[in-house]
Amino acid sequence: MNKVQRVSSLRAAVSAARKDKKTVGFVPTMGNLHEGHLELVRSAKRRADFVVVSIYVNPTQFGAHEDLDNYPSTPEEDARMLAELGTDILFLPEKTTMYPGELEEQTVVYVPKIGDLYCGKDRPEHFYGVTTVVSRLFNMVQPDVAIFGNKDYQQLTIVRRMVEDLAYPIQVVGVDTVRSKEGLALSSRNGYLTAKERLDAPALQQSLQKISEQLKERSAVASKSALKKLEDEAKAELKKRGFKPQYITVCRQADLKPAKKGDTSLVILAAAQLGKARLIDNIEVELAD
Ligand code: PAF
Repeated sequence: MNKVQRVSSLRAAVSAARKDKKTVGFVPTMGNLHEGHLELVRSAKRRADFVVVSIYVNPTQFGAHEDLDNYPSTPEEDARMLAELGTDILFLPEKTTMYPGELEEQTVVYVPKIGDLYCGKDRPEHFYGVTTVVSRLFNMVQPDVAIFGNKDYQQLTIVRRMVEDLAYPIQVVGVDTVRSKEGLALSSRNGYLTAKERLDAPALQQSLQKISEQLKERSAVASKSALKKLEDEAKAELKKRGFKPQYITVCRQADLKPAKKGDTSLVILAAAQLGKARLIDNIEVELAD
């Protein structure tokens, strides 16, 4: 595995691979890799001949009072695991490479509406930061296929929209969430949980499963008020378990708009604070037509 910091070195390596008729897969990450990230890399290896992984903790997607300064970092362990999986290039750009000018003067990529919902409401700057950095990384790596986790469902939907709207010739692939055996979605932020909170944390996925089962039993989205009742009950349950729910919402897979009567391909999205960790999770639900 080659570690590169400069865009010129990255481009030279990618063009050499292309000269050998290799396809290029890309996995963007912020490091502190866990089994969920490793699944993304395995998926990239299955889909492309040459795999680039980036590690860059992107400041523009963190709010003023968020955990940018304390974001967990495990560079040696990350590099070891990526090399073991057969990653070709580990791209480690510096801040001046990703944002050469003043941050306030930087061009931003913004996906309207869908980027303002849910996590976008709670973290207004977050998706601007994600789409801006992902679009810069796409231009630097120029992959054929880019791999993202389904755990960040709204992020994945927004990146798909950006790729379509800006006509990037990139296939975007979502990979299933990897969970602990108790059902907690793996995340670098799980490291902020205490031992007791770690026992409570799987309740988030359980509450989504409960809503999913109730929707399937009724085999339809009955009405806006019936959905709100299910969402409110789940929030109340989570509050009892010590969570501070930010949103639980049943929406349409395609555009993440709130589900309406007649919709059948649904996803339930949730975010909740548990102690110092902000947890997000989701579950897809297919109702019979
Ligand atoms: O999902 C992440 O880790 C980040 O949002 C990403 C896609 C690497 C952009 O910084």
